[in-house]
Amino acid sequence: MSETLRGRFVCGTFMHAPQAGTVEALVDALIEIGADGRIAAIHPAGHTDRAAAEVAAGNSGRLTRFAPTDIIIPGFVDLHVHAPQYPQLGLALDEPLEVWLGKYTFPLEARYADLDFARDSYDTLVGDLLRNGTTTALYFATVHQEATQLLVDICLERGQRALVGKVAMDDPESCPDYYRDASAAAGVAGTRAVIDYVRSHPDNREQRVLPVVTPRFIPSCTDDLLEGLGQLAGECGCHVQTHCSESDWAHGYVLDRHGMSDTESLDRFGLVGRHSVLAHATRLTGSDTDLVISRQAAVAHCPLSNAYFGDAVFPLRAALEKGMHVGLGTDISGGPTASVLESARMAMAASRLLESGTDPDLPRAERGRPNSRIDYRTAFYLATAGGGVALDLPIGQFAPGYHFDALRIDTAAPEGTIRSFGETDPDQMLQKLIHSASRANIADVWVGGMYV
Ligand code: GUN
Ligand code: FE
Repeated sequence: MSETLRGRFVCGTFMHAPQAGTVEALVDALIEIGADGRIAAIHPAGHTDRAAAEVAAGNSGRLTRFAPTDIIIPGFVDLHVHAPQYPQLGLALDEPLEVWLGKYTFPLEARYADLDFARDSYDTLVGDLLRNGTTTALYFATVHQEATQLLVDICLERGQRALVGKVAMDDPESCPDYYRDASAAAGVAGTRAVIDYVRSHPDNREQRVLPVVTPRFIPSCTDDLLEGLGQLAGECGCHVQTHCSESDWAHGYVLDRHGMSDTESLDRFGLVGRHSVLAHATRLTGSDTDLVISRQAAVAHCPLSNAYFGDAVFPLRAALEKGMHVGLGTDISGGPTASVLESARMAMAASRLLESGTDPDLPRAERGRPNSRIDYRTAFYLATAGGGVALDLPIGQFAPGYHFDALRIDTAAPEGTIRSFGETDPDQMLQKLIHSASRANIADVWVGGMYV
């Protein structure tokens, strides 16, 4: 098998969700992939030049034709992954956030001072995420510069599109001595060093890996660090990620310390902009929501993690209807899954619970919030194009100029979990795919047209 689709044509059924709530099926379409791994042209079935293009592609031996049981979809975008927490996936879910951090998570993250451990763990994670269909991940690493650079190397080696941030956390009041930046200045300098490392990496000429300014969250950072990182983000024009109003405790902590909301405080430090991704945001007020939207910042919706730590369900549909940029995050390991598809299912279920309400002793009319549910179309959007919009990257849909980051879903894989009973409607197959596909159905994964 060729290692790349670059410079080739692919023919088959492609499905994507360029906007929340709408799915488009390109049945028997021909897509031309450029030498740079981006989509050069799309020839839908029945278009005037379609047949000639197919003959030309076939004659030059550059045509790959997929099976009728294959559906090609955009690769998944995971907007919130704590890479060092992978060894803890499925563990340590018995404590609230503020206890969980000190009891389990900081001790684990501190182990990444050991680069052998870091290489083992990060290599396993990146390989697993690719097999699960995550073609782009937004990663929190640890405070360690070297181990963060190793994560960058591994993403480049394995070909995953990634945004990687050295975690910055310096407040001696809240961070243990064994796991924090030595000072605000050290946190800023380490962040700057990783940005330079990513941007000048000899294997990163296509900028497949991007740097991210990553204050862990306000409770871990001094004001000096937040200010320094805000300035750095402005200066270097890179992405920003942090946690925002994740839980009652986290939201209340910022109100007490700064006398304003998490969103307002992050914003005054210059940390809420078009390239910012705020994780969780379950406790945003109405004016926080307006502020996030006015800055064109994004929320990483982490529905499974929110069930453990969030204290509330993020009002996803209302946020989308107001125009907020939203995508999905697994929040490994706060959310015990490494699959964006499972996060998408949880997003649908959580939205239904918000709509119906949860307390059976309340009368139906008081139990939930009407018009809160999302369906498989919006879940598909969030897992793909929504993540692309959040990151302001040309990924997550099939359109000229977009990177060919895609998955071949074999809907007939014997070991898979999609079963068909004669359905011919692509939309029905997509419903089955979103609700019931598993790793064995993910037959090929491409990033920038390369098999990964
Ligand atoms: N808030 C600060 N750090 C973390 C973390 O590692 N995970 C989650 N879910 N929330 C956080
Ligand atoms: Fe998190």
